[in-house]
Amino acid sequence: MVVVSDSDGKSTEGDWQPLQTVAWSYGKVRLIDQTILPDRIEFVEFSQWRDVVEAIRNMIVRGAPAIGCTAALGMALGARSIIADSKHAFRARFIEIAEAFRGSRPTAVNLFWAVDRMIDLVDSTDGSIIDIKDALIDEALKMLDEDIETNRRMGAFGAALLPDNGAVLTHCNAGALATVGYGTALGVIRAAVEAGKEIRVFADETRPRLQGMKLTAWELARDGIDVTVIADNMAGMLMRRHRIDCVVVGADRIAANGDTANKIGTYSVAILARHHGIPFYVAAPFSTIDFDIECGDDIPIEERSSEEMTHMNGGRIMPEGVKCINPAFDVTPGSLVTAFITEKGVIEPPYLRTLRDAAQDKPDISSGPRLTIGR
Ligand code: MRU
Repeated sequence: MVVVSDSDGKSTEGDWQPLQTVAWSYGKVRLIDQTILPDRIEFVEFSQWRDVVEAIRNMIVRGAPAIGCTAALGMALGARSIIADSKHAFRARFIEIAEAFRGSRPTAVNLFWAVDRMIDLVDSTDGSIIDIKDALIDEALKMLDEDIETNRRMGAFGAALLPDNGAVLTHCNAGALATVGYGTALGVIRAAVEAGKEIRVFADETRPRLQGMKLTAWELARDGIDVTVIADNMAGMLMRRHRIDCVVVGADRIAANGDTANKIGTYSVAILARHHGIPFYVAAPFSTIDFDIECGDDIPIEERSSEEMTHMNGGRIMPEGVKCINPAFDVTPGSLVTAFITEKGVIEPPYLRTLRDAAQDKPDISSGPRLTIGR
């Protein structure tokens, strides 16, 4: 891993640059190191695919779409290192790389979607092994382009749902940092602001890793969007005082019936929203929907190290010998979701039917700006 930059992404006052969380840079995978934000922004480059697997596991990159796109680039990188004298031998080695990426994090289905898409490409590409390696890089770059385009579409659909001169609560980080750029839930907020709406954002701090406080607050403030951080236990009080008009969150995996896995704490927010009659929206691309899973009970939930709970800033904050658990995600029943904001439009219940119906008619979203830094 090489640290390549420590600029804040703004070269001079007024010269604003969009965040590019995941990129391909002259034969390397380039990521923003999210473990050190908001202290400073550092781009790190990886020339070894195994280090990309570790970057996902250690949350240098995190957020469902960003993980998927990083895995695709990492697999393209890994493919380049394979020395094989037949397609069969190449494929066997490529599957080993794919399995390593599959094992990096269990909940965000975008990871498995991206891995499968890369394997499918190998299976459907004729030509030499060099051709296949090139095609894999092109496919991964296409996924990056599609991600931005998808987020923009979600933004355009979702902006209409947000209030003008109102307050939106979000949980965790479903922004530019959780995608290639722009964001899902935060993309909807960005699009509403771009459309001239006055939006105030409340960001749950999101214990234990504080993605809301560290990442959401940082990227919204960087864009000049009004953001206020609250502790995870404050949302109910704010809702009761009519300070929140709607909730918009992202998703890591959506079951066929609309049950939605997202960052731990999302479920509690959804219950609070229902109790107070506040709309609860999930913004997510179709690559986050897992039609193989009927309901949320079957979504694998990642259990992370207890150290994320017991320690903060390197110091212990919990008494020795006390037990704790650290599930990274929870499942919000589809019945609590007012609507899904997707690249195909806003989807309302009954989700078992409407999600599948929308999936049948996939629009071509392969055009759009290329976010590539060299080849
Ligand atoms: O553990 P993380 O930080 O990867 O969890 C991220 C989330 O839960 C996001 O809300 C989700 O991936 C949606 S990102 C567009």
